[in-house]
Amino acid sequence: MNMPLGRVLTSERAEKIKDDLTEFTGLRGDQVAVLAICLSLGVYGKKEFSFEDATGYELNPQTLTRNGSDPWVEALFSLVYGRDLSVPEESETLTHLVRGHLNHGLYLLQEMKDGSGGRLDAFLKEISQYVTIRHLQLQDRWRPVVHGIKLFVGTDVDSSNRVEWEFNNTEKSPSPHVGIAGRSGYGKTQLLKALLAQLCGIEARVPCLVFDYKGDFARDTSFVQSLNAQVLNPEHDPLPIHLFALPDYSEKTIKRFAARMQESFSAAVRMGEKQQYRLRQAIIEAFNRRRGKAPPYPDWREVAEANCNLSQSGEADTVSGVLDKIVTYELFADSTTSVPNEPFYARNTIIDLSALSAYQELVVYLLLDHVYYDMRSKGDALISEGWQELRLIIALDEAHHYLQEDNPVLGRLLREGRSFGIAVFLSTQTLSDFSNQSVDYSELINNVFLFQLAQVKRADLTKLLRVSREEARGLEDEIHRLKPGQCVWSRPVGIGDRTYSVIEAEQFYKTIGRDI
Ligand SMILES: Nc1ncnc2c1ncn2[C@@H]1O[C@H](COP(=O)(O)OP(=O)(O)O)[C@@H](O)[C@H]1O
Ligand SMILES: [Mg+2]
Repeated sequence: MNMPLGRVLTSERAEKIKDDLTEFTGLRGDQVAVLAICLSLGVYGKKEFSFEDATGYELNPQTLTRNGSDPWVEALFSLVYGRDLSVPEESETLTHLVRGHLNHGLYLLQEMKDGSGGRLDAFLKEISQYVTIRHLQLQDRWRPVVHGIKLFVGTDVDSSNRVEWEFNNTEKSPSPHVGIAGRSGYGKTQLLKALLAQLCGIEARVPCLVFDYKGDFARDTSFVQSLNAQVLNPEHDPLPIHLFALPDYSEKTIKRFAARMQESFSAAVRMGEKQQYRLRQAIIEAFNRRRGKAPPYPDWREVAEANCNLSQSGEADTVSGVLDKIVTYELFADSTTSVPNEPFYARNTIIDLSALSAYQELVVYLLLDHVYYDMRSKGDALISEGWQELRLIIALDEAHHYLQEDNPVLGRLLREGRSFGIAVFLSTQTLSDFSNQSVDYSELINNVFLFQLAQVKRADLTKLLRVSREEARGLEDEIHRLKPGQCVWSRPVGIGDRTYSVIEAEQFYKTIGRDI
């Protein structure tokens, strides 16, 4: 492809600033460069720049234009300068202008950084007044922290007041995760929908990713509409995700990735040591065969083939069976199919697992692992004046299906997700699910809604609600007396301090049409 943009070399001063800013913001160098260019275009517009020294770093035009597939630089500069700069004759002019805006954008960013007193959130807030760049897929980083996300959770049974909850107040609650437990038909899913509708609805403050085990979300058209959600159904269409696309393809990265994949498999499918080892080798082998080719990552078919080649007996076993199903049912996009640039969970997404006859758990673990590492690469979420920035709500309804086996992926998400701005909402029929993992989830789940339960163990109550055995006894009776739709809502009210009350929980089907 003909690329009018030539070598863009910054000044020495600009390079120093770029290095400083990549460290300060956690963004990559090319992202800082795009930001600088857009900022300068916004501030200086159609300006001619004098020549500066070109002893700094060289901006890679391939990276900037996604290997030539996205000529946004030509388009944007043509628009600002009011003439067609995308033609080969204008190559030198365009390159000179891009260099000028890049240098001066970086100088501006330096000033803003100095003005923000070295505070990242203040710096990002300042920038977000000038530019929003969908291009970088970084909207979430520029979105200022929402102060005081308040949610209606229900009506207090004693006082009849409608009760609100300051969802992202870190001074009250160190963790944003939510646990909902109760027997079937008592209102868990309806409460979950009501919370999501408020958090991720029209104002779209935080996107959500719903793992819909029974299709209760995907089939509820009012819910889908109120969230303007995309429904992905892997039974019908491959999930638009290249799970094997990695940030880099070094031996180390590939090995670690293979180990994580194996971990997800082992949590979902019973398999012996040998098969686990072979699966890891098959993944590594599939990457090796891709070396020097485009794309540099394999897909499930190639992993299945590599696994088959590595199997000495050639006989089918659990792993080959699972791989065969993933390939046959085309659960994931293959490496030649293009998928959207934006991560699939950048908007409200419901993954309908109800039609999958098997391997729901595996699909969930693989996606959770993918999302976790993807979010982690974006760096820490911000906390501003005690309010936590949230970037994604992950909702797992019918979570007892995933919680029975020890699940390292979910454990990691609960333990570390908060720092990347992930909140996990779990809804389950069995209370003990929260505490019989190798990581005790009850430590990590601060906000709990308990509907009537078939079985309540006092030990679970003391752990999850942090109450004494005496209080747990009283609560046990209270939980048994709960009517459908009622629940005990337990939450922190300060560090180390908790309270609970009985509420008539919000139910989505009753909320529709009401102004929330
Ligand atoms: N659209 C609706 N109209 C009337 N009642 C509903 C509707 N949807 C759900 N319900 C009622 O809400 C109750 C709670 O349902 P749900 O939240 O799905 O229970 P759970 O998830 O705990 O099994 C059910 O008993 C059902 O009767
Ligand atoms: Mg339900």
